[in-house]
Amino acid sequence: MNLAICPGSFDPITRGHVDIIRRAAKIFDKVIVLVLTNPNKNHTFDIDERRVLIEKALGKSDNIEIDSYCGLLADYAKNAGATAIVKGLRAMSDFEYEFQMALTNKKLYPGLETVFLTSSAENMYLSSSMVRQVALFGGDISPFVPPEILDDVHNVLKKYNKGGNE
Ligand code: PNS
Repeated sequence: MNLAICPGSFDPITRGHVDIIRRAAKIFDKVIVLVLTNPNKNHTFDIDERRVLIEKALGKSDNIEIDSYCGLLADYAKNAGATAIVKGLRAMSDFEYEFQMALTNKKLYPGLETVFLTSSAENMYLSSSMVRQVALFGGDISPFVPPEILDDVHNVLKKYNKGGNE
């Protein structure tokens, strides 16, 4: 069985993430959407909130599971028996950082390939930080996040009134 991991901060999950996850699920037998901590970012939504939002956004699927992990992605992938990491690439600006992560993960666990899917054209500009910023200043985030989580994103941001960086 070919198991892939779609890792990320998902702070919060966007329509762009959902698109990449669903496309990955068509290529691989099984996909685990893995919520991780990015030490370079101050996450706005805590790890449980991010996980619940993903569950709501994706609904039930035969070959997609959701999990969260505090630690190295490579360790999780090795324990889970994953063969690939799938990430979306929006623009050249993503490339350097993603390339660095792919090579680091390969060094930590040589059995792991990183596969990049190009972002769909309509999602190329989307980012979680943009969603948070628009929501924080009362803008309409409905074009950017799945409809199932629209209210929850607003409610959590209202509760914390937090900013953060992507
Ligand atoms: O959505 P993001 O923030 O681009 O995802 C980055 C993420 C969370 C996948 C990355 O920071 C990560 O893998 N964090 C877990 C810790 C880890 O394994 N670091 C080494 C990989 S460079």
